[in-house]
Amino acid sequence: MSSDDGELETSLEETEEFEPPEAFVEQANVTDEGIYEEFEDEWPECWENAAELLDWYEGYDQVLDDSNEPFYEWFTDGKLNASYNCIDRHVEEGRGDEVAIQWVGEPTEEDDRAVTYEDLLEEVEAFAAALQDLGIEEDEVVTLHMPMIPELPVAMLACARIGVPHSVVFAGFSAEALATRMNSADSEYLVTCDGYYRRGDPLDHIEKADEAIGSVEHEVSDVVAVNRLGEDGPEADLDADQHDYESLLADHEGAAVDPVERDAEDMLFLMYTSGTTGAPKGIKHTTAGYLSWAAWTSHAVLDLEADDTYFCTADIGWITGHSYIVYGPLALGSTTVMYEGAPDEPDRDRLWEIVEEYECDQFYTAPTAIRSFMKWGSEYPERHDLSSLRLLGTVGEPINPRPWKWYYQHIGGGECPVVDTWWQTETGGMMVTTLPGAKRMKPGAAGPALPGVDVRVVDSEGDEVEGGDAGYLTVHKPWPGMLRTIYGNDERYIEEFWAEYSDADAGEWVYFPEDGAGIDDEGYITVLGRVDDTMNVSGHRIGTAEVENAAVEVQGVAEAAVVGAEDEQKGEAMYAYAITEEGQAETDELRERIVASVEDAIGPFARPQEVVFAPDLPKTRSGKIMRRLLEDVANDDDLGDTSTLRNPEIVEEIQGQASAN
Ligand code: PRX
Repeated sequence: MSSDDGELETSLEETEEFEPPEAFVEQANVTDEGIYEEFEDEWPECWENAAELLDWYEGYDQVLDDSNEPFYEWFTDGKLNASYNCIDRHVEEGRGDEVAIQWVGEPTEEDDRAVTYEDLLEEVEAFAAALQDLGIEEDEVVTLHMPMIPELPVAMLACARIGVPHSVVFAGFSAEALATRMNSADSEYLVTCDGYYRRGDPLDHIEKADEAIGSVEHEVSDVVAVNRLGEDGPEADLDADQHDYESLLADHEGAAVDPVERDAEDMLFLMYTSGTTGAPKGIKHTTAGYLSWAAWTSHAVLDLEADDTYFCTADIGWITGHSYIVYGPLALGSTTVMYEGAPDEPDRDRLWEIVEEYECDQFYTAPTAIRSFMKWGSEYPERHDLSSLRLLGTVGEPINPRPWKWYYQHIGGGECPVVDTWWQTETGGMMVTTLPGAKRMKPGAAGPALPGVDVRVVDSEGDEVEGGDAGYLTVHKPWPGMLRTIYGNDERYIEEFWAEYSDADAGEWVYFPEDGAGIDDEGYITVLGRVDDTMNVSGHRIGTAEVENAAVEVQGVAEAAVVGAEDEQKGEAMYAYAITEEGQAETDELRERIVASVEDAIGPFARPQEVVFAPDLPKTRSGKIMRRLLEDVANDDDLGDTSTLRNPEIVEEIQGQASAN
């Protein structure tokens, strides 16, 4: 680093606020700060601005129907189709030969694939025709257990075209996790693939489908498998009608499938996510509300335009990939870059090579990735010309000022605004972040709520905290992109999200996202993290209950408690405390069996970093495990209050065990 760079670093370290770069503002989609007041005054009609970004077969009657709170409905009686909005209308505008999806495979010797809007239309129609031929009917859920291959967005859009909700299950999920999700959604159809590449190695993926089918409670009628690995791929003989994706496409080549007119409130997809209690929740998103939210936030926050090339490093198996690789960017007609593999394959400059090669305009990633880039060093981005970039974004966990500034300087060259976007699977899209063309940035704080979004920070009584204080994040007005319910469980929807702070008798409904947050005098929010029993490990939301259930399934384990401890790299690292049964030795072999059981139940991404044997768990007099104290042990912090424990002596014993490990 030259001395100039050194001075720059020091001055950056001291800077606490950044103005939106002028060159960015000059061309930005939203620049007028008046939008906050305007949306407040015109709420809920302000959301017509989002609906206007879509094409409708029939206009809606009402922007918001709140007659059955908290089961809100948006854009009621409007008719539209998501696949039409993401594909056909761009082709009809004469943009068919522009690239919709720029797919980059992990192996470098292979040809990347540029899927134009015209190509996408053809493939989506052919696959939609194939799905119809399999006998799939409107509103039956199709499960997609697929990695980052172009056939995944094709399958999603084919489903959307024929009014079939998809349930995408992240490819890293195990057979058991896949089966649980298929059971919960009553899904009889599965699209998967033979395998895929990860850090250079071909992985067998179809074995999970094979195993899952055996534990799905209902009949799985058809499985479609994409052949990704060619000769390297495994063969599978599944206990269901098995179809080869390529052959289905060939059989339906040239098929014309009209997009079905979906009601605004018809389900577009389900996405399972972890909650406090055991079973994952099927979050239901609808056609108009969700799609308009994905499109509006892509327009206002990511500053996406039709001629942009945009790169988001998320996996489509999670909500970020749904909203900001597939639906948002394609609804706006831009080029979305989709990368199959690891960021350091074959070297640590892979992502920057992609940004340079495709001249990406925006780049959206997670803080855990930024912390890795920072650790790897600035020489990797410096090898590449990143001057095409005009905006950077982050999502998934809190980002500290240091990695924020590193990102701003070393990836954005000090010329790109950074949007730190807070949202969740349940919110469908962004909720709290700066508008990059209109608002000052404060590293470490996500920003104020978006215009028209009423997010506050309250204390445990539900009263708003003063600027400078911390409390709980709450949302006081509904928004179009919100979840509509937990699939098949309206009661749990109310209990999980609306019970804590609403006053139903007074007609005040408050959504509780289960995050803690601080707020400053200007309304900038710093999200502190989950306050329920879920962990955020490298941006993956994992339920402690799911991991604990897997641990106690192991023979010899009597009880288990799992907590997230602070981790510089991953955000949180998972510690599992296990109590053995009488006569069971505390061995490494048992530790391995616990880890293997978690991998089987959820997937390798959810494996505990450390398994600690404990004589007992700290419990309150009513028998509730005090996870907070286990977190203190894992963090090596001073212990919090132990006076309410039934067994206060146990904490020191566990401390002893933990340090002996
Ligand atoms: O705790 C918050 C954290 O991620 C949770 C949502 O996880 P998930 O549904 O998997 O969606 C992740 C991608 C949207 C939130 O409850 N989170 C998300 N974004 C941020 C964040 N925490 C701090 N800052 C963020 N920008």
